[in-house]
Amino acid sequence: MTLTIRPLHKLFAAELSGVALSGHMTPAELAEIKAALAQYAVCAVGHDRPLSNEDHIAFSALLGPIERGQILKVSGSPDEMRIAHHEIIDQSNMDETGEIYADDDRRLAFKRANRLWHTDMSFHQNRATWSLLSAHMVPPDGAPTEFSDMRAVYDALPDDMKTRIDGLEAEHSYWHSRVLGGGPEPTDEERASRPPARHKLAHTHEPSGRKALYIASHATHIVGWPEDEGRDLLLELMEFATRPEFVYSHDWRVGEVVIWDNLCTIHRATEFDDRQYRRDMRRTTCREHAV
Ligand code: OGA
Ligand code: MN
Repeated sequence: MTLTIRPLHKLFAAELSGVALSGHMTPAELAEIKAALAQYAVCAVGHDRPLSNEDHIAFSALLGPIERGQILKVSGSPDEMRIAHHEIIDQSNMDETGEIYADDDRRLAFKRANRLWHTDMSFHQNRATWSLLSAHMVPPDGAPTEFSDMRAVYDALPDDMKTRIDGLEAEHSYWHSRVLGGGPEPTDEERASRPPARHKLAHTHEPSGRKALYIASHATHIVGWPEDEGRDLLLELMEFATRPEFVYSHDWRVGEVVIWDNLCTIHRATEFDDRQYRRDMRRTTCREHAV
């Protein structure tokens, strides 16, 4: 394998070529990919055709402990899955039969919350490291995904802000971002399936040794602070973190897999006509520790 790296943005993000992702990589090949991920944080890998679910899962498992299981039970939705692999999170706008969601499907409303800036699974104590999103069907006008580089953001924060957030923790709740994103009020059963978690606002990103800001639309408040003061600080930081100079917008091609590091980036989906066009995106997620 000869890995070629082409930067896609002046701060982060790169396209990797000369590699096809699968569970059959040698340790040396894997080390090259991990080094690229440590530096660029968002890496796109193209393929002639979409990766099989099996290759997608097998490669992801090489990067770390992989999320497994339907931990989210959306009330009223069936138990069948469109993709019969518990490691794959179906990020499409399709129901279990492959039809575009009905207007009143709670899953569609919850998924639209992906259009808020977030980092995956910050609402778990055991945080997500890499997410791997694989494009199987892309709508005509693209529906790009936007990313922001939270290491560059941290570096650019004014010194007094760095001092202010040092040691602070935020509480993160999945339901907070769902409701913010226009989703329905969760049921007690839904709430119980995903309790909140707490994380430091600034942390050291191990793969690169750089400091990064760790916040997202899942963050509700600062631990130990009055709610409104905490919310104001989080809003101020989010506004700073999503300034255009920190943002890379990725235009998808079918067959592409984008791997991002949730510990030093945030991302959001963008709008498209999800009542008319299918967008078939499938995600695996690695965690810091075994689930
Ligand atoms: C995700 C996500 C954005 C998109 O899969 O975690 O936020 O553009 N996706 O689909
Ligand atoms: Mn996401």
